[in-house]
Amino acid sequence: MPAKQVAKKLKSFVKSEAVTHRGMTIPAKHLRFGGSNFIDDEAFLSSGEHEAERLQSSFGLSRNMALLDLGCGPGRLPIGILSKIGEIRAYRGVDVSQTPIEWCSKYIEKEHPTFQFTHMDIKNERYNPSGSSSVGLPFPDASFDVIYLYSVFSHMKTPDIQAYLTEFKRLLKATGKVFLTAFTEDKVPEMEENPPNYKQDWKGALHCVRYEKKFFKKLLKDYGFTVDKLEYGTETDGQSGFYLSSL
Ligand SMILES: C[S@@+](CC[C@H](N)C(=O)[O-])C[C@H]1O[C@@H](n2cnc3c(N)ncnc32)[C@H](O)[C@@H]1O
Repeated sequence: MPAKQVAKKLKSFVKSEAVTHRGMTIPAKHLRFGGSNFIDDEAFLSSGEHEAERLQSSFGLSRNMALLDLGCGPGRLPIGILSKIGEIRAYRGVDVSQTPIEWCSKYIEKEHPTFQFTHMDIKNERYNPSGSSSVGLPFPDASFDVIYLYSVFSHMKTPDIQAYLTEFKRLLKATGKVFLTAFTEDKVPEMEENPPNYKQDWKGALHCVRYEKKFFKKLLKDYGFTVDKLEYGTETDGQSGFYLSSL
């Protein structure tokens, strides 16, 4: 086993991996993504519950539906769904980071077998720099009612987004919906990595990838999606929320 993995395993023995908050098992603080936003246990759980309720009220997410959570991280949305809606027919969480997928498999999938988690070794310079496989998701055509990705396209350049949009078109039912967040602004370059003087001091590869709003909307349209609703700047770190349907 490589030294880095041994160190990670040792660390997980020392620190506990999970905590219980309001009866729900959630990842310990050091395993959460989202910087200072979700450090507080209540903030983590209630944000996941808020996401479940968003999908319920906007897309009618219900127990007989199938949902893909791309870049699921350590389970914020599925924990929120379990708390607010209960087990749905099929929840599929995919991520390029191994540790959160291991956490979700151990603490969510074991208890709730319709919630399944898959690690994909797709390259992302921030989250999985040594990844090798190309974007291609192991699910049949038209298998999802909802596709969700929170704070994921905010760490991706255009070619990866194009590859995922192609996959979403294949995977989504004709009546399916997508919710995603992204940094989008007017009158900025079409795409910029870690834009200076923008919201915070971004450091490291793909910390923040910002898009020009019209360019981003055209990208979505070119790949077969229409923006039904756009909430500007309402999400983590000032990202905007996009509600999409198939064209
Ligand atoms: C800021 S975190 C958000 C996690 C989760 N969506 C949430 O809101 O709590 C971004 C996530 O996207 C994942 N990610 C980055 N590139 C990805 C890719 N190409 N495919 C799938 N997931 C990716 C990262 O590993 C990380 O878990």
